[in-house]
Amino acid sequence: MVKICCIGAGYVGGPTMAVIALKCPEIEVAVVDISTPRISAWNSDHLPIYEPGLDDVVKQCRGKNLFFSTDVEKHVAEADIVFVSVNTPTKTQGLGAGKAADLTYWESAARMIADVSKSDKIVVEKSTVPVKTAEAIERILTHNRKGINFTILSNPEFLAEGTAIADLFKPDRVLIGGRETPEGQKAIHALRDVYAHWVPVDRILCTNLWSAELSKLAANAFLAQRISSVNAMSALCEATGADVSQVSHSIGTDSRIGPKFLNASVGFGGSCFQKDILNLVYICECNGLPEVANYWKQVIKVNDYQKNRFVNRVVSSMFNTVSGKKIAILGFAFKKDTGDTRETPAIDVCKGLLGDKAKLSIYDPQVSEDQILRDLAMKKFDWDHPAHLQPLSPTSNKQQISVVWDAYEAIKDAHGICIMTEWDEFKNLDYQKVYDNMQKPAFVFDGRNVVDVKKLREIGFIVYSIGKPLDAWLKDMPAVA
Ligand code: UDX
Ligand code: ADP
Repeated sequence: MVKICCIGAGYVGGPTMAVIALKCPEIEVAVVDISTPRISAWNSDHLPIYEPGLDDVVKQCRGKNLFFSTDVEKHVAEADIVFVSVNTPTKTQGLGAGKAADLTYWESAARMIADVSKSDKIVVEKSTVPVKTAEAIERILTHNRKGINFTILSNPEFLAEGTAIADLFKPDRVLIGGRETPEGQKAIHALRDVYAHWVPVDRILCTNLWSAELSKLAANAFLAQRISSVNAMSALCEATGADVSQVSHSIGTDSRIGPKFLNASVGFGGSCFQKDILNLVYICECNGLPEVANYWKQVIKVNDYQKNRFVNRVVSSMFNTVSGKKIAILGFAFKKDTGDTRETPAIDVCKGLLGDKAKLSIYDPQVSEDQILRDLAMKKFDWDHPAHLQPLSPTSNKQQISVVWDAYEAIKDAHGICIMTEWDEFKNLDYQKVYDNMQKPAFVFDGRNVVDVKKLREIGFIVYSIGKPLDAWLKDMPAVA
């Protein structure tokens, strides 16, 4: 029986391994992690991540051929294929600070693999890593190998949160990169055989190691670039009276451009886009390509600009001050159908409003109070360390923040509402009831373009929607500081 072990039971490792176990009943899959609470949650009825369809997949295979364990060394020692899906935070100190990936967790995983292995292994990079990480990992493994053969592959994951299970069931492609040596090719075939259980072989792309590593960064950079492009257009739309949804639709019908990833928003979030672009920028700089580095840097700058612009819209519309005013924050996750808050634009928007002394009442159907308070107290990039190394939730800004479990509770007596996540329930709120319960004038700032602007204006709201023709109230209020 082939045995697979995945180090790291996170958003990538957990769902990916669950689907491999489901589709390959004759393979034994163990997912291991240093975090005891995380593994306990994977073994309980309340999985540590919210992902539609995941519960069902886990229930079908857990205890049969899918196991979650903290016994990292035992499962690694027994495995034929070891996936590594551990944290790769952005460095905050030293060489490459603010851009380069910190490979501490990767390196310690690689050293542990070398230490405990007693048989040959294929080691698969699953978490996004900077180009040429495989080479460094290969060196660690081969310098410590004690006669054992390690073959390294890059198999980047392209799933998107919220649709992870559907993406894993029917991926656009599976990418496997390996060395162009007989051992490298043999390893590629072994991993291809795993995916071939359910993915058509013409969708399994095999490349060299560096192409696979770079393709992951490039794919995320291209996707993020589309969002920054449409968000840049949204600012121009607001200035000119054009409607960004109409512009997106018009350009998206060009089959060369296509309709996806053209929704203007308060900004992109998530664990990958910013981190991967920063990595790309760093690699370009290290390779003497400053023009290329600056080109990609701009995608992040526009994203930051979009979040700032939003905060400025809120403050300038409300008579240039939100001090002491209650603002309801609807949604905190970085997109709908996930409880993940990593790099969510809600963090920057909330911090901006707190900086102007607003009182925030925050509601998200999937994010806990503890998580929100921790996020609002955390330093940039601290989120990407294992949970036990992250700061505990502080009490310092608790006077300005309350976290509630109902949207109507959040908006009660509020001066304004900021919609940060496109949860379906925010489209269907009883906005007349909402209006009746708010201070007047009542403001809605829609960072996801989910509300019916016309209807809300008829009720009496002053509405700001990203990239849409401005309310007369907002026209003379500058949005750029
Ligand atoms: C992304 C990639 O899509 C995925 O392939 C990769 O494996 C990991 O990174 P993810 O971060 O889970 O996935 O979500 P995604 O759907 O890409 O959304 C990222 C951010 O962009 C979210 O904040 C989302 O709200 C925002 N977004 C997306 C927009 O603002 N507009 C859009 O049109 C699409
Ligand atoms: P991703 O979104 O890439 O899956 P996560 O942060 O959700 O990232 O998951 C990474 C997981 O890796 C965390 O649960 C963390 O505890 C785990 N981890 C980090 N280093 C190690 C290690 N050396 N051994 C085992 N697990 C590790």
